[in-house]
Amino acid sequence: MKQLASLDAYLPVTLDGEQGLCLALGLDGLLVDSQAPLAPGQELGLRLFLKPGSRAVGRVLVREEIPTAQAPLRRWNLEVVSWEGDSEKTLQGHMSGSRKDSHLSIVAEEDVESGLEQRAWERWDLPHLALPEGRPEDMDLSCSLLGRELSAPVMIAGMTGGSSRAGAINRVLAVTAQELGLAMGLGSQRVLLEQDGLLPTFRVRDLAPDILLLANVGAIQLNLGVDIDDCRRLVDSVEADALALHLNPIQEMVQPEGDRDWRDLRTKIAKLIEALEVPVVIKEVGSGISAELAVICRDMGAAAIDVGGSGGTSWAKIEGLRSQDSERQAMGESFRRWGISTGDAVRECRAVLGAEFPLIATGGVRNGVDVARAVALGADVAGMALPFFRAADQGQDPALARGRRILEELRIAMLCSGARTVADLPRLKLRESR
Ligand SMILES: Cc1cc2nc3c(=O)[nH]c(=O)nc-3n(C[C@H](O)[C@H](O)[C@H](O)COP(=O)(O)O)c2cc1C
Repeated sequence: MKQLASLDAYLPVTLDGEQGLCLALGLDGLLVDSQAPLAPGQELGLRLFLKPGSRAVGRVLVREEIPTAQAPLRRWNLEVVSWEGDSEKTLQGHMSGSRKDSHLSIVAEEDVESGLEQRAWERWDLPHLALPEGRPEDMDLSCSLLGRELSAPVMIAGMTGGSSRAGAINRVLAVTAQELGLAMGLGSQRVLLEQDGLLPTFRVRDLAPDILLLANVGAIQLNLGVDIDDCRRLVDSVEADALALHLNPIQEMVQPEGDRDWRDLRTKIAKLIEALEVPVVIKEVGSGISAELAVICRDMGAAAIDVGGSGGTSWAKIEGLRSQDSERQAMGESFRRWGISTGDAVRECRAVLGAEFPLIATGGVRNGVDVARAVALGADVAGMALPFFRAADQGQDPALARGRRILEELRIAMLCSGARTVADLPRLKLRESR
């Protein structure tokens, strides 16, 4: 049985008609406070009230009583015997949506970074040109990725969708990307396979008709019943130009209800890439892709790789914070800095992939100077998640202001290091200070 996910807002339940509150939830178990006279081994009918008009109905077995100081309430560990009708699907959708919202609250409010970002990027110094020739506005930031023109080598990395807060953020990000000519990724769309009513929280094409837009799903889903047609539907439903397939093993392992079975995925990924009509970008989410794996990804048919290195948002840290279990929190801390830093990953991957293979550098990129560093190290485009999320959470103007500042910093960094075009950046001689 997987670990149960603690709920931020407890859910009302009835057990053979007796009321209770569900504190933690999984597809195969629940933790419930109730005054009902339960006993281990007893089987009961369960109704779980998710939100108005949405409930899951099934049968559960009482496994054990959990000691609590909340008398007269008693706490029970229940095992799910069966779900009725669509209950399992409904519950899965509910869990994905509430997980997304709790991720957003944590990312908005807590320190979720690996703590490496300063060291990781400031190690690489662009050469300083004390007598630059030109003005920042003369710099040519234009570039291309996956056959699409971008106004600057910047991507708003895939983050969200699946709840009303997430939908509002996606719309702000889309307007920002359209206005500034940036690429944009959507967050994991797995939830759409369970609840297609959430599609409007992902659809942004009306606001951003011209951008390079990436759909998103976790590669691990291919081990959990998601097939090629599902992926095709996810891409089509948002009119995306490409699919980002994310690799997030550390997050899944630290997440209490995470997926642990990563066997045989490579063949499935290669088959998916071969069958899909759009290019597939393989991306990590903050632990990096090594040179060896980059070659494997290229050979599986990936059209681009986003190294998603360490140094920025740490999903181990986020999952630790989300868990209310002190052992999980400690585990999150243990893996907080795990991985290959973005700068190292870009350099190593570029060295083995050759000059032409499209490479994206996400993970700890925080400003336009970092974008210049990332491109100078070998990336075609730099991706940013956390900085755009936090700005977009404040509204449209802050998001646009953040994007404009990043581009202005990039122009200044280019002018004052002697790179007039984006293609000049990788020719600069970086100094590495350790
Ligand atoms: C709020 C938030 C949600 C995210 N959700 C997803 C996701 O659904 N799919 C995905 O591939 N990456 C997701 N990521 C990971 C980012 O795309 C990125 O790889 C990672 O955050 C590192 O970049 P950063 O340091 O700029 O935040 C998310 C990041 C944030 C901050």
